[in-house]
Amino acid sequence: MIEAVIATSDLCHDYAHGQQSYRVLNNINLSVARGETIVLLGASGSGKSTLLNLMAGMEPIQRGDIQLFGQSLARMDDRHRTLLRRESIGFVHQAFNLIPTLSVADNVSLPLALAGIPRLQSDHRRQELLEAVGLAGRGSDWPDRLSGGEQQRVAIARALAAKPPLILADEPTGNLDADNGQRVMHLLARLVAENSSSLVVVTHSLDVASIADRSFALSAAGLRAVDTTAAGAAGAW
Ligand SMILES: Nc1ncnc2c1ncn2[C@@H]1O[C@H](COP(=O)(O)OP(=O)(O)O)[C@@H](O)[C@H]1O
Ligand SMILES: [Mg+2]
Repeated sequence: MIEAVIATSDLCHDYAHGQQSYRVLNNINLSVARGETIVLLGASGSGKSTLLNLMAGMEPIQRGDIQLFGQSLARMDDRHRTLLRRESIGFVHQAFNLIPTLSVADNVSLPLALAGIPRLQSDHRRQELLEAVGLAGRGSDWPDRLSGGEQQRVAIARALAAKPPLILADEPTGNLDADNGQRVMHLLARLVAENSSSLVVVTHSLDVASIADRSFALSAAGLRAVDTTAAGAAGAW
């Protein structure tokens, strides 16, 4: 049996709207193997961010469960979920979410500092990552001096800094133009492969065929496998 990095089982999630409760995730079963890249598609409001946030342990599980490296998130309190997230997950947000009061270099080093990595080792890793994302000379800049594409490359470097085995990316190209979006997506895929990490990425980008091992569409009906390989991409998805 191949051990899953993360696996949801009959995962449900409701939001309260006034007196009403509204089900956004309905019995989601998704298992991600080591080194695998999963692309998640779906209309706006279909629950993609909710699913990613639950996988990252940022919200308590209401019904069903998520096993993260074999540990049940449903049975974990906030503190343990936060600790597990810190050591095993890198998150890339649509809006970059860099810390504006830290330099580019310090943003990238942050997960290394949180993990207690010694300074010399951390400096080396930071430089290696800034080079990998093509920003070696920009470490002392403030994030707001960088273009959107550059900021997202910094966010990717930060997410990968501590070599987390699982990367979650929520529409990482959503705020970028098509060219920059494609560059960022390929960079993310390449770095994830180099780290042998698993990746779950939410994207509307049509250029996913080359990075996805498997793709799924999320809707009110649940999660449905879709063919985004070159052969299937001509179809309607
Ligand atoms: N904290 C919240 N409280 C109430 N409703 C929410 C909350 N977060 C998201 N929703 C609703 O849940 C649905 C799914 O949201 P989301 O997971 O952000 O979808 P997606 O990322 O696919 O666009 C939407 O209808 C959204 O308005
Ligand atoms: Mg979303």
